[in-house]
Amino acid sequence: MEEKTARRRVVLVPTPAQGHITPMMQLAKTLHLKGFSITVVQTKFNHFIPSDDFTDFQFVTIPESLPKSALKDLGPIQFLLKLNKECQVSFKECLSQLLLQQSNEISCVIYDEFMYFAEAAAKEFKLPNVILSTTSATAFVCRSVFDKLYANNVMAPLEEPKGKENELVPEFHPLRYKDFPVSRWASTESTMELYRNTVDKRTASSVIINTASCLESSSLSFLQQQLKIPVYPIGPLHMVASASTSLLEENKTCIEWLNKQKKNSVIFVSMGSVALMQIKEVMETALGLDSSNQQFLWVIRPGSVRGSEWIEYLPKEFINIITGRGYIVKWAPQKEVLSHPAVGGFWSHCGWNSTLESIGEGVPMICKPFSTDQKVNARYLECVWKIGIQVEGELDRRAVERAVTRLMVDEEGEEMRKRAVSLKEQLRASVKSGGSSHNSLEEFVNFMRTL
Ligand code: UDX
Repeated sequence: MEEKTARRRVVLVPTPAQGHITPMMQLAKTLHLKGFSITVVQTKFNHFIPSDDFTDFQFVTIPESLPKSALKDLGPIQFLLKLNKECQVSFKECLSQLLLQQSNEISCVIYDEFMYFAEAAAKEFKLPNVILSTTSATAFVCRSVFDKLYANNVMAPLEEPKGKENELVPEFHPLRYKDFPVSRWASTESTMELYRNTVDKRTASSVIINTASCLESSSLSFLQQQLKIPVYPIGPLHMVASASTSLLEENKTCIEWLNKQKKNSVIFVSMGSVALMQIKEVMETALGLDSSNQQFLWVIRPGSVRGSEWIEYLPKEFINIITGRGYIVKWAPQKEVLSHPAVGGFWSHCGWNSTLESIGEGVPMICKPFSTDQKVNARYLECVWKIGIQVEGELDRRAVERAVTRLMVDEEGEEMRKRAVSLKEQLRASVKSGGSSHNSLEEFVNFMRTL
């Protein structure tokens, strides 16, 4: 229910990628329900076309000159560095226009942790600024200690040959060196530059994190001590405010297909909005899924294999294999799929949104992380929450079959399903009145009213 307060405006700046737009728009919806007016400043690149859930919101686009393929071509780290350089001036101009136009005052600028160009502009106009972290608190911790670990020779430069990859990083158990949130496409120097900018809180008044204390209490305590500004874990945001935020069209026919399947009999396979696979990996996955004898619903995103339109590279016999036991779509209504009783497991790249959405429905996971924070999430799913099986090394049909069987058929999977359901209940309690995320959100909103 909408709360009665004098509507003050908040300017939100999402990173232009599905996994970041979604939590930012869920936050926008939440704050709107709490009585704030919302302006969303987005880039031309990958901009979100507002659904009916956002009729009362103002959307403004700032120019930049990034080509459509920039994220794919540059990789996440270089892309973000370039985007921040490109948007610095245009965002400042945009904010100055907004300040001239607004009939109601702007309370503050809330920007995605990776859109740090927004901080300088907010500071110039003496506007308070707040950071939204859309990744896990643990990934945030890793980024914040990155510099120090290199300086102390605990972490080797990314360019050096692999040495102690499988060893645990001292004081960061259960994370191993190879779980740290780096991208193999970026140099140590660029990674450091990005992470220094994202963790240097300079003028931020507070940090909101899309997580819940029942998931990551020790990482949250670490951040609370280290950052010296209030940290508000108010997630999972998809459980606080639901809204349609998809950049791609969802194929809902898969729900009709799921309706025909037995309870917990289907493994859902989806690798998020950015991960790229190789043709060989797609083929091995198809063969492994087939020999696991389980039904599967598989999202193969157009362009998710470099140089391909969709699945035209797959020989006809593969299509027959896939359609015999499974159903393929280009993009699914993922949250609806995960909440469907037929879905008993989720094969995922472990993006933070997918992780929260799966836990939020009590669905255990097979973890095949590709890059950055996904590796941290996968490790937590397997070793901390114990609701995931990580597939490591080269992806071949036997590894796929084995992981699917362990999760969907074996006793081990059943135990994970029970733990996932218990974690789901804890998450649900945390966003309800009196729960930790609910209280944190109330504190944050009160804090916003003082700005
Ligand atoms: C990126 C990073 O890769 C991720 O690690 C980081 O935490 C956020 O930014 P992405 O790879 O897209 O995100 O993964 P994820 O965070 O899981 O977000 C994907 C979103 O797309 C989810 O909200 C999911 O529900 C949605 N989705 C995915 C669909 O709606 N339909 C699909 O078919 C697939």
